[in-house]
Amino acid sequence: MIDIDKIKKQVEQTSTLDELEALRINLLGRQGVLNSYLKELKNLPLGERKKRGEELNLLKEELESVVNKKIEAITSSFLLERLKKESIDPYLPPFPINIGRMHIINRIINKIVHIFERLGYETVEGPEVETEYYNFEALNMPAHHPARDLWDTFYLNNGKLLRTHTSPVQIRTMESNRPPIKIIAPGRCFRKDNPDASHSPVFYQIEVLYIDKGVNFAHLKGTLEYFARSMFGRDQEVKFVLSYFPFVEPGAEVAVKCVICKGRGCITCKQTGWLEILGAGMVHPEVLERQNINSKIYSGFAFGMGPERIGMLMYGINHIRHFLDNDLRFLNQFKFHLED
Ligand code: PHE
Repeated sequence: MIDIDKIKKQVEQTSTLDELEALRINLLGRQGVLNSYLKELKNLPLGERKKRGEELNLLKEELESVVNKKIEAITSSFLLERLKKESIDPYLPPFPINIGRMHIINRIINKIVHIFERLGYETVEGPEVETEYYNFEALNMPAHHPARDLWDTFYLNNGKLLRTHTSPVQIRTMESNRPPIKIIAPGRCFRKDNPDASHSPVFYQIEVLYIDKGVNFAHLKGTLEYFARSMFGRDQEVKFVLSYFPFVEPGAEVAVKCVICKGRGCITCKQTGWLEILGAGMVHPEVLERQNINSKIYSGFAFGMGPERIGMLMYGINHIRHFLDNDLRFLNQFKFHLED
C-alpha cells in the first residue's frame, strides 16, 4: 500500500518544478503508482473492490492537492527571489534622459510673435517658393528695376524664385483681406549673399504689417520702441536711420546697440557698434492701390526683422552660422532658457 506520509515528505523535499513534475508523473501519471493499484481493482472480489476504489480515489485527491500546493509554493518563492534581485532602489539617481527641446531660433521667433500677438496681430504664413510678382513686382519693383539688385536672388528653373524676404506675405494678405489688417508673418528666406558673421544664404525674417485709417510714422516708431523694450529690456538703445525700400515711403532701418562689444566695434557689428535688426517704413501708396486699397483713406506701416540677429544680440552669439550648424554643443547651452 502507498505510504502517504512518506510521499508527502518526498514532495516537500523537491525544490524545483522539474523535480516535482517527475515525482508527480511517477505517482499520478498513466504509468504511475496509483494507476497500477487502480488496474488491480478488477481482480478483487466485488465487495472489497468498492471499498478499495473509494480509498484509492481519496488517496488520489490527497496526492493531487499535496502536489498542487507544492507547485504554488515553489512558484511563489521563485517569484519572491526574483523580486528581491530585481528590486528598484528609489534612492538611486535616475539615468539622464535626453529630451529634445525647441531649437533656439524657433524660441526666439515665438517670443517675438507673442509680443505682437499681445498687440492684436494675427500670425500668417506664405510660401517659400514665390513668383516674381509677389517678391518684386507687387512690391513696387517692376522687371529691370535696379532695386531688385538689393536682393541677390536664387531663381528656379520653372521661372519661380526662393523668396528673398517675407514682404510677399504683405501682398498675399492684402489680396484676400480688407483693412484693418494687422498681421505678423515669420518664415524662411533665401539670398545669394556671401556668408559672413551676420549673413547666411538661408535665414529667417518676421514681417509685420498694419493697415488702417490714419496710421502714421509715430505709430510705427511707438510700435518698434515697444517691441525693442519688450525684447531687450528698458535700457536697450535703439536708433532709426533713414533708408530706402521701394515698397515703403519713407523707409527706415532700425538698429540696436551691439551688446557683444557694447558699441565699441567687433566683427558681429562690422565695427559699427550697432546691429541692424530690421527694415521698416510706411507702406507705399502705390503698393496699396495695386491691391485696391484706397491710399487716400488707408495708410499703413510695415517692417521686416531678422530673428537671428536679434538672437545674437540677446545671447551674445558671434556668428549667424551657429543657428544652422545644429552643433549640440551650441544648442545645449539654451537648455534652461525656457522663459517663453
Ligand atoms: N523686406 C525688407 C528686407 O528684406 C525689409 C522690410 C520689410 C523693409 C518691410 C520695409 C518694410 O530687407
